[in-house]
Amino acid sequence: MTATSDAAPHRGIADILYVRFQVEDLQSQAQFLRDFGFFVEQVDGLLLARGTDANRYCYVAEQGPNKFVEVGFEALSRAHLEQIAAMEDAPVEALELPGGGAGALLHDPDGTPVRVVHGIDQPQPIEPPSRPPLNSGGQRHRFGERVTFSSGDASVKRLGHCVLYVKDFRTSEAWYKSRLSMLTSDEITGESEDKPTGAFLRCNRGEVYVDHHTLFLINAGRSGFNHAAYEVADWDSLLMGHDVLKKQGYEHAMGIGKHLLGSQVFDYWQDPAGFTLEHFTDGDLFNEANGSAVATPEVAFSSHWGAGVG
Ligand SMILES: [Fe+2]
Repeated sequence: MTATSDAAPHRGIADILYVRFQVEDLQSQAQFLRDFGFFVEQVDGLLLARGTDANRYCYVAEQGPNKFVEVGFEALSRAHLEQIAAMEDAPVEALELPGGGAGALLHDPDGTPVRVVHGIDQPQPIEPPSRPPLNSGGQRHRFGERVTFSSGDASVKRLGHCVLYVKDFRTSEAWYKSRLSMLTSDEITGESEDKPTGAFLRCNRGEVYVDHHTLFLINAGRSGFNHAAYEVADWDSLLMGHDVLKKQGYEHAMGIGKHLLGSQVFDYWQDPAGFTLEHFTDGDLFNEANGSAVATPEVAFSSHWGAGVG
C-alpha cells in the first residue's frame, strides 16, 4: 500500500453523493428540479433526481413538511464504509431507496444525519449537453465551425458540495475529519483561533484531484442546511439554466459570479420549498499535496467578478 493509495485507512470517502429533503409540494418540486436541469423520476412517492454522471440519484425528496433530512457521502469501498460505521457503532444496513446498496446512518455532533453509502447500482451515464470547442483570446480551438448546442435530458452533472451551519466549528471539524477523512482547503478566520468563521473541506483521495470543497462548515452557533451545489456541464449550461429558471419565475438567490476561493462560477436559486440550490462550473481541483490555507472573511466571501464583488 502506498502513501497515496485510496485504500489507505485514513481515506474513506470518494465524494458527496446526495442531499435528501422533505417537501410539502412534490409536484412543484419535481417541475423545479426538471427546470433546474435534473433528470427526475417519481418512484413510490419519492422524487429521485440524477445528473448526467452515472449515479442513481444526487437529490432525493419525499412528501412532508419542508425539512432537510440528510446528506449522503459515498465510501471508497465496502471496507471503508464498515470502518467508518464502526467508529460510531452504527450498523451497516441495506439501503431502501431504488438502486440498493448499503449504508450507515451517522449523526454529526449537532445531530445532523450523515449517511455513508456504498454499492448503489450505477446506471449508464447520460450524454451531457455539449458545444463545439471554446475560442478564447489566447487559445483558438474552433475553426470554420459555428457554435451549436446539443440539448439533453439533464444539464446537471453531479452534486459537488453541501454547506452546513454548525453549532461549534472545532467540534464539527474534528468529527468530519476523523469520520470522513476530510482535509481543509481554506479556513476562514473569525473572532479567535477557536472560533473561526468556518472552513472549506475536501475529500482526501491522495493523488486523485477532487473539488476544492465538498463540505463547507459555517460556525453559526446553530445547526442547519445552507445550500447544496450541483455542477453543470459548462458555462453555457449555467447561463442557459439561469435563463430557464428566470423565465419560469423562480426566486433567484445570488449570482452570477466567480468565487475567489474555489474559483467556481456560481448561480444560486431558491426551490419551491425554500431551500437554496446552486449551479456551478469551472471549480478548482486539489489533491492531498495541495495542502491547506487560511483566508479572512473579506477574501473568502469576495468574487473574482460578478455577485459578491464589493
Ligand atoms: Fe456553494
